[in-house]
Amino acid sequence: VIDSLGAPESVLVLGGTSEIGTALIEQFRTSGRLRRVVLAARPSALRDQLSSRLAGQLAEVRTVDFDATDLDRIGETMRACLDDADIDVVVIAAGVLPDNEEALRRPAVAVEAAQVNYVAAMAALLHAADALRRQGHGVLVVLSSVAAERPRAANFVYGSTKAGLDSVSRGLAEQLRGSGVTLLTVRPGFVRTRMTAGMAPAPFSTDPTTVARAIAENLRGPSRVIWVPGLLRWVMLALRAMPAAVFRRLPQ
Ligand SMILES: NC(=O)c1ccc[n+]([C@@H]2O[C@H](COP(=O)([O-])OP(=O)(O)OC[C@H]3O[C@@H](n4cnc5c(N)ncnc54)[C@H](OP(=O)(O)O)[C@@H]3O)[C@@H](O)[C@H]2O)c1
Repeated sequence: VIDSLGAPESVLVLGGTSEIGTALIEQFRTSGRLRRVVLAARPSALRDQLSSRLAGQLAEVRTVDFDATDLDRIGETMRACLDDADIDVVVIAAGVLPDNEEALRRPAVAVEAAQVNYVAAMAALLHAADALRRQGHGVLVVLSSVAAERPRAANFVYGSTKAGLDSVSRGLAEQLRGSGVTLLTVRPGFVRTRMTAGMAPAPFSTDPTTVARAIAENLRGPSRVIWVPGLLRWVMLALRAMPAAVFRRLPQ
């Protein structure tokens, strides 16, 4: 149960090794009430490292194998994550940032990104919504992106996968009204994580802790869309309204 200050007792992170997901767990842990974490992720040394560190800090830590390209197994994976106890917060954090140029040469790269970022994320989100609806409470947190808001020549493959997820997320938020379950659609700009390692930071770049703090601050209350940093809400509003001829001249 999430207390009046917005601190949850239990969290499931799909993409449990993600840097933003890890920062969010840390944010909840330092709020002092977090007891139980489920990390759904591909088996890796990083997953082992994170789960053993958290096991020393929390009452219960569980890992569940989750490969977003294995679409046939998502239902089974989500049942393993969700069936046995209440979960206060479910975070959909698994994602890939494909190289747009490579995707143009090898469309299979775009297809895999769509599978991970959109198809698997949508399936996981719908399974989680169903479980939380039956439970009667909980918050779904969806890691979308500002890239969902307007396609750019340099990044439209990733942007389109996030646009699909963003649309499911906002539609589901409406559908969940009155159920006791709320949904936070999070649109970060450029976040300095291993996903963006080696790339030149875009304007308004931020870090995983700032994203985690913004999520924690918006956990209570009705479903909403948030931008991180918040200023991006207005920047994106202007960019969306901008004529194509002007938009094209901006640095890509
Ligand atoms: N960084 C940014 O600038 C930024 C901006 C806006 C939105 N976001 C979104 O925020 C979310 C978290 O990103 P991050 O920055 O924290 O990046 P990250 O540290 O690279 O995390 C990405 C996560 O996705 C998982 N993943 C990738 N492919 C997978 C697959 N086939 N099956 C299961 N899991 C898979 C990775 O697991 P493995 O450890 O197994 O690889 C990892 O847990 C993503 O959805 C991303 O699109 C990021």
